[in-house]
Amino acid sequence: MDRIRIRGGRPLSGEIKVGGAKNAALPLMVAGLLTDQRLILSNVPRLADVQTMTLLLQQHGIAVDPITDDGRNLSLGGAISNTEAPYDIVRKMRASFLVLGPLLARVGEARVSLPGGCGIGARPIDLHLKGLEQLGARIVLEGGYIDARVHGRLKGATSVVPFVSVGATENLLMAASLAEGRTVLANAAREPEIGDLAAGLVAMGARIDGIGSDTLTIDGVDRLHGAEHAIIPDRIETGSYACAAAISGGSVFLRDARLDHLGATVRILREAGVDIVEEPDGLMVKRLNGLHGADVMTEPYPGFPTDMQAQFMVLATRARGQSVITETIFENRYMHVSELSRMGADIHVDGRTSVIRGVKRLTGAKVMASDLRASAALILAGLVAEGTTDVLRVYHLDRGYEKIEKKLQKLGADVKRAKDV
Ligand code: UD1
Repeated sequence: MDRIRIRGGRPLSGEIKVGGAKNAALPLMVAGLLTDQRLILSNVPRLADVQTMTLLLQQHGIAVDPITDDGRNLSLGGAISNTEAPYDIVRKMRASFLVLGPLLARVGEARVSLPGGCGIGARPIDLHLKGLEQLGARIVLEGGYIDARVHGRLKGATSVVPFVSVGATENLLMAASLAEGRTVLANAAREPEIGDLAAGLVAMGARIDGIGSDTLTIDGVDRLHGAEHAIIPDRIETGSYACAAAISGGSVFLRDARLDHLGATVRILREAGVDIVEEPDGLMVKRLNGLHGADVMTEPYPGFPTDMQAQFMVLATRARGQSVITETIFENRYMHVSELSRMGADIHVDGRTSVIRGVKRLTGAKVMASDLRASAALILAGLVAEGTTDVLRVYHLDRGYEKIEKKLQKLGADVKRAKDV
């Protein structure tokens, strides 16, 4: 297993390019199941999760081929030859569960392993299942697998979920695109990645109204066709590097980053003293004077994303005054706290709430990465800590940050990847 070693204390400066959004690329790859024609995706990030999704789609019979040397443009196409999504793939990556709706809509049956819990919480899939049942699927749980079937086509229906779920909205949006009649998804998630999926589906011939709002109206069509679609830039990668620039006291240009996708992140970072200026082809980010604490509650988009909580917490450890973070999306998303405390952070957690008091210094330590965003947070902490920080178990990072050490080196950080001994 790899570790990342950081010698802290260098302000970051220069330019990096923000890659395509992982959380848009994964559902858009799954959309390849909805047609027998070619779907061409560009700006696909080169990440472990994209490889896992490629494996899953291949074993459903879909060929996934890079069509450019850099591997960022993929062609997907083929006939569905197998409707089972096995445990060994689904347990590695929960987004695999998104194949359930499309397989059902396309071929009337699917057997998809239950994903189980994960580090950050129980993460049930009841909303996905309830929504698909409303569209006419019969669902049984057997041997750890969801066995879903429908006679004929799925039928449009109105689905109102009690709370917002990104994954359930995506599963239902894809299924409804090929259902008979009209589906209304109320209380739908509004994340930019949902808008990107919807835009890709529309390019494939889907009829979707209300994109970007919390009510999606889908008029199902008999078939979808091939299309070309470019993935939006990753707003979480953007936010993570913005925090890195700010805490290191540097100034970084994030090429291709989009301000209009940042939601509350931009307001909170500005409140904390980070200067973010929109330019025609990206965002310029720097620290103004000192950083100061800010209060944050994680919420569905356009609220502050749970996927930015750990990175913002690192910023808060270096800010003047106190910050209060309330995590409302996942019940166990403070696993980075004990590691940050070992580096000298002053953080007190009580249930969903954490109180962070800024400290004068963090000191390098050996720390253990527990999940994707926690790993990024520990690297950020290493950038400003005195001495050397070794972030162990960084395989999580490769799921969601493309070549993070290379990008940070380009900005002048002293970072390298080494094999664990
Ligand atoms: C997606 C993102 C993830 C992000 C999360 C919240 C992808 C691939 N992953 O995950 O990075 O952290 O959104 O922004 O896009 N829930 C249920 N029942 C369900 C579904 C969800 O109770 O059927 C709960 C979850 O446990 C969680 C909350 O709803 O507490 C939100 O989860 P959801 O929006 O579904 O997250 P994911 O789609 O799994």
